[in-house]
Amino acid sequence: MAIAPSLEEALRVPVELGERSYGVWVGPGVRHRLADVIPRDVSRAAVVTQAAVADAGITVDPGVEHRVFITDDGEHIKTLGAVEELCRQLAQWGLTRRDAVVAVGGGAVTDLAGFTAAVYHRGIRVVYVATTLLGQIDASVGGKTGVNLPEGKNLVGAFWQPAAVLCDTEALDTLPPEEMRSGLGEMAKYHFIADAGLGSLPLPERIARCVAIKAEVVAADERESGRRAVLNYGHTLAHALETHGGYGLRHGEAVAVGLVYAAELAHRAGRIDACRVDEHRRVVGGYHLSAKLPADADAEGLVRQFSRDKKAIGGVTFMLDGPDGIEPVTGLDQALMLDALEAIR
Ligand code: GLY
Repeated sequence: MAIAPSLEEALRVPVELGERSYGVWVGPGVRHRLADVIPRDVSRAAVVTQAAVADAGITVDPGVEHRVFITDDGEHIKTLGAVEELCRQLAQWGLTRRDAVVAVGGGAVTDLAGFTAAVYHRGIRVVYVATTLLGQIDASVGGKTGVNLPEGKNLVGAFWQPAAVLCDTEALDTLPPEEMRSGLGEMAKYHFIADAGLGSLPLPERIARCVAIKAEVVAADERESGRRAVLNYGHTLAHALETHGGYGLRHGEAVAVGLVYAAELAHRAGRIDACRVDEHRRVVGGYHLSAKLPADADAEGLVRQFSRDKKAIGGVTFMLDGPDGIEPVTGLDQALMLDALEAIR
């Protein structure tokens, strides 16, 4: 076990949101400093974690009276039924408005526990201990919480900022390779949102830098009325692939394919040159991720799916790179979309 750093030794990224501001700490063993970030007036904490995290021996001590609630692993836990079940368990224990939820795990757990915290007693505080790479650089930061409906992902949710986030890089050693690859796909995205020599940083610094990029975007557009959409770079194709069953790709792996697709499309739309497309391929390849459309993917079905994307309010919208950076682009011809799909086959 790594020596738990003091919080001063960990990398700290502020998320500046006025009275909802909070800190994100990144480093090996930071989960052992949980008690330092639990708000001082909290007297009890409900620790919500997942089976794989508990099985890997990743435990926390909030430094106050607490109970542990264990969920299954995976996206399927994000249901309204699970929120009700968790709220009932918190109520049976007698958790009050003054207390807190601590979510320990990947994005599914932080989404479920975060939304539960947002609605239980009309909102109690929540602290995240993110144990997956995807959770650390994406799900735990930004305040979007929610669960899925049979009709679609994250259709019920709330903006509810955590009181603090701990990204324990020691926990990454316990991740299966496919889960790590998924996080790396999302990490590749940040190279194009704000390139600041990400590729040359060691992993904890790189995680902190990704969090800082996301924090800056969220601070500028907390409620997703504009700039935040840049965080969806590479996601239009990724979501379409996921809706078609995922073709065996995890979320971040699908994003990696989606990034190169977005570059091929932007090139065909005259927004970027071939060198910039190559740069997308280089970054994705640098993370040992595939940029190829799965061989059995149904291109026309994917293009039809684009128009069902939740961003497609005024027609199919892609976030595309260009002379002014990544922007929403509408009105692209379907032939262009199909041609760009052929380019990544
Ligand atoms: N919780 C993820 C986000 O707000 O983007």
